[in-house]
Amino acid sequence: MALGRFPETRLRRNRRDGWTRRLVAEHRLSVDDLIWPIFIMEGTGRTSEVASMPGALRVTLDRLEAHVAPAAELGIPALALFPMVPSDRKDAEGSEAANPDNLMCRAARLLKARFPDVGLIGDVALDPYTDHGHDGVLRHGYVANDESVEVLVAQALAQAAAGIDVIAPSDMMDGRIGKIRTALDGTGLIHTRIMSYAAKYASAFYGPFRDALGSGGVLQGDKKTYQMDPANTDEALREVAQDLAEGADMVMVKPGMPYLDIVQRVKSQFRVPTFAYQVSGEYAMIMAAAGHGWLDRDKAMMESLMAFKRAGADGVLTYFAVDAARKLRAGS
Ligand code: PBG
Repeated sequence: MALGRFPETRLRRNRRDGWTRRLVAEHRLSVDDLIWPIFIMEGTGRTSEVASMPGALRVTLDRLEAHVAPAAELGIPALALFPMVPSDRKDAEGSEAANPDNLMCRAARLLKARFPDVGLIGDVALDPYTDHGHDGVLRHGYVANDESVEVLVAQALAQAAAGIDVIAPSDMMDGRIGKIRTALDGTGLIHTRIMSYAAKYASAFYGPFRDALGSGGVLQGDKKTYQMDPANTDEALREVAQDLAEGADMVMVKPGMPYLDIVQRVKSQFRVPTFAYQVSGEYAMIMAAAGHGWLDRDKAMMESLMAFKRAGADGVLTYFAVDAARKLRAGS
């Protein structure tokens, strides 16, 4: 790195005018980097706002097309779907997850027919469907790995058959990527991609999401026996290596902002498509501070998204996707 001496070298010269700042900018955020997570619910004619996520909505399927149309028009490449499952459809085994007519699959069929060019990402994990709120099935109070993987495979196949383009296992069971890949290939679904939530931490920042799906109140205990310890980084690299070896096409780090070091290490070590999830708690923090007038919402939003690019992310799952895309299209 060239070291200059003052006063010949003045680093502020390049910052003096907008045009030089634009010219020397190292990273750029584009609409193509954004994935919009959306919440769907049963029923008709209803929209509800998630209390802890101002501006984030749950919609019934008859309203889904209108909800998604602005994102499609803005050119957001993909949506991540999350279902709020009524409690009478939940059981200990999460069986509704594999029902080919569940909310998720109906939403996928509808969206694929209406927006064929928008990618659909399906979360694969049992927590929206289990009455205990865990991502897998419980055996003697422990989330049993191999039994859970069997249900997750069935869930992934149902979603892929319904038109989900990208299977995104967020459950953190061992070996599920390979089993899902084999099952997809076995049914001829060779083009269905897998975006693995490879490095997913046991985080307090998922709180508002669990409110959004109504899975928080029911959760027994915590998820520390399968999600990662926030103290670890090398382990994240092992998780990513394992998922890539099993056939993951893209990997994700989650949460986002508090884990940018992980994003950077993953991207620089593996050079594979790497995504970060700016999770519900990160969104809630910015919105809450902005609601008090303590932060400028739009500036904090755009700066936080740029930070993901700087860390090396190829894209970001963010509840801000539509608002950020509007700003980017407006050139502001
Ligand atoms: C489900 C899942 C979670 C999130 C995405 N998929 C919650 C969890 O693991 O408890 C969180 C997303 C967010 O907080 O925005 N396995």
